[in-house]
Parts: sequence; structure tokens; C-alpha cells
Amino acid sequence: MSTTNRQWILRSRPKGLLAPGDLQLTESPIPTIGDGQALARVLYLSMDPTMRGWMARDTYLPAVAIGEVMRGGGLAEVVESRHPQFKKGDKIVGLTGMQDYVVIDAQSKFPFQKAPNIPFVSDTVFLGVLGMTGLTAYFGMMEVAKPQKGETLVVSAAAGATGSVAGQIGKIHGCRVVGIVGSDEKCAWLTCELGFDAAVNYKHPDWKEKLVAATPKGIDINYENVGGEVMQTVLNRMNLYGRVVVCGLISAYNSEDVRLMSANLGLAIIKRLKIQGFLVIDYASRFTDAAMELGKWKMMGMLKDRQTVVEGFEKAPEAINMLFNGENIGKLIVKI
Ligand SMILES: NC(=O)c1ccc[n+]([C@@H]2O[C@H](COP(=O)([O-])OP(=O)(O)OC[C@H]3O[C@@H](n4cnc5c(N)ncnc54)[C@H](OP(=O)(O)O)[C@@H]3O)[C@@H](O)[C@H]2O)c1
Repeated sequence: MSTTNRQWILRSRPKGLLAPGDLQLTESPIPTIGDGQALARVLYLSMDPTMRGWMARDTYLPAVAIGEVMRGGGLAEVVESRHPQFKKGDKIVGLTGMQDYVVIDAQSKFPFQKAPNIPFVSDTVFLGVLGMTGLTAYFGMMEVAKPQKGETLVVSAAAGATGSVAGQIGKIHGCRVVGIVGSDEKCAWLTCELGFDAAVNYKHPDWKEKLVAATPKGIDINYENVGGEVMQTVLNRMNLYGRVVVCGLISAYNSEDVRLMSANLGLAIIKRLKIQGFLVIDYASRFTDAAMELGKWKMMGMLKDRQTVVEGFEKAPEAINMLFNGENIGKLIVKI
């Protein structure tokens, strides 16, 4: 066991993509624990677009303060415990922060969950398909979209951690599913491996025509992860009484201009659309049951997942930018 705790500290609020120096690598002693606490060594960091918002401003959580360890999710292993729930060797997931070691407190506002030990299943699924992004897709689809057989579902950022699961849940429920993504490789993954009916690369000049061709009966459900022009193009194609699940608006996260978050809501009136945003954390009391259902679909081969793994704690800031450059397929994680 090393003697220092490496930490990424927020030094300045990024303008656009993260620049060198926005996060600074520091070292401090490994913390000691008291009664009701455990010490865990972080094994993997979860890279999430929301981290960019946490660096910039108050959102559904307060902004990370300048000088604080950068907030982030992770998978960690308990190395010492005086905690009532966790023993040495347990793998746990939660807000570890971007650091080597985290103290888990029984009184914590954001409790950690134990990652069950399932034979032949990698622990990292609890950061992706059976973790926060899989759960986001689950609740966005099951509670907000409520897909019906024969409906057409369009998912943006469809080859990402959340979008790939949302689309597959649509297939499980008998929808025609079309993904919007930023590369031909991602299109091929969706249609050849995940069973999407069609996929469109928004970086091709004729993508809007291709989207029309891929949705001959219009669009009933838009699972929106991107916003901006992508969302507007999908809204133009929505059917009367369609549902729009606003999961995320990643195209606007690197900007201070909140107008980028908006769309032509006149269409909501003309098409009588139901538009609903949601936050996965609102469903925390139901995470275990939802993860069981996702796990069942995964075991039955109805839900496939993929990870993009960046090796090395020191690469974490660059990894955050990969989310905005579209360099990940499936769940993006950093192996420490
Ligand atoms: N509401 C909630 O509770 C909740 C929870 C988790 C995540 N989310 C949201 O879900 C969305 C996906 O998150 P994730 O963690 O699963 O990330 P992800 O989809 O695995 O990665 C982000 C992807 O977004 C696409 N993207 C980035 N910038 C873009 C742009 N300007 N235009 C179009 N596409 C762009 C990229 O793919 P391409 O190559 O296809 O461009 C990139 O790979 C985000 O909006 C996130 O904020 C919401």
C-alpha cells in the first residue's frame, strides 16, 4: 500500500474543454479513520458529463469549490474498516472523488453501495450498465418514456453509456429504434451488435435526410442526451402526442450560453408533445430492483455493454474531455 493519496484538485473553472491546470494533481497523506468509518482504495473512476457542470456552476448539486478534490463516481475496495456495513475486501461504488483513497462515513449524505460479487462479471459493470448510467437509461425509459410495442424511438448519443442502454430497452419493448451518433464505427456497433434498426452519423452532411428515411412513421419517443441542433432535428420529426425524455444536453455543457440548451418549443404546442426532464438520483430508493432487472436482461443476452478504459490516474482530466470529443464507446472509465 502506498503512503500517499494522489488527488485531482479543482484549481479553475474551465472555459470550454478542460485545459491543463484546471485540475491539479497533488499528494497528501492517506487519511486515517475513526469509528463508523472505512478507508477504501479507488480502483476505477467513472467519467461522467455532469462533472463538467459540477466544475462550472451550481446544478442539482453545489459546484465543486476551487481547491476541493474534484467530485466524481468510482469503484473502490475497502482496505480498513470500522464501518458498520463494510468489511475489508468489499468492493463499493459511490462518489469517491478523483483520488486514490476515500474515507467512507456511516453518516455520509451520499451513501456507498456494495458491488455484489457475481462470477464471470467484471466489477466495473457497476459503474456502467448495472450502475448509474444503466439506471439512468432504465428510469428514463421505464418511468418517463414508457415505450409501447411498434413505436419509433430515437436516441441521441446512442453509442454512449446511457444511450446504448436506453436504445436496447426500447428494443426489449418492441420499438423501432434509431440511434444518432458521431461516427460510422458507432453506427456499426449499434446496428450490427446491439440490434438497433438504424443509426445515423450526425457528422455526415446528409444525416437529416437519413434520419427521415430511418423513421418512415415519424418519431414517437425522443430519448435526448445531446440537445441543440440534434434535438431540434428530432423534434421536427416527432409525431402528434410524442414524448421527449430530456436526459441530458451535452452539446451545451462546455458553454456559458444557456440559450444553447433551448429548442423551438413552438413545436411542443403544434405537435402536443409531452417533454419531461428527470434525474436518476430521484429514483435512488428503487436502484436495487432496477439493477436486478438490468442484470437479468444482461444475463439473458438482451442487453449488451461495452467500456472504454483509459489507463492511469494521471490521464483522468484528458479522459473527461474524451466525452465531449466523442472518443468513448459505451461507458468511459479510468483504471487507476
Ligand atoms: N438525467 C440524469 O440523471 C443523467 C444521468 C446520467 C447521464 N445523463 C446525461 O446523459 C447523457 C449521456 O451521458 P453518458 O454518461 O452516458 O455519456 P456518454 O454518452 O457515454 O458520452 C458522451 C457522448 O456524447 C456525445 N457528444 C458529446 N458532445 C456532443 C455534441 N456536441 N453533439 C453531439 N453529441 C455529443 C459523444 O458521442 P458522439 O460520438 O455520438 O458524438 C460522446 O461519446 C449526457 O447528456 C448526460 O448529462 C443524465
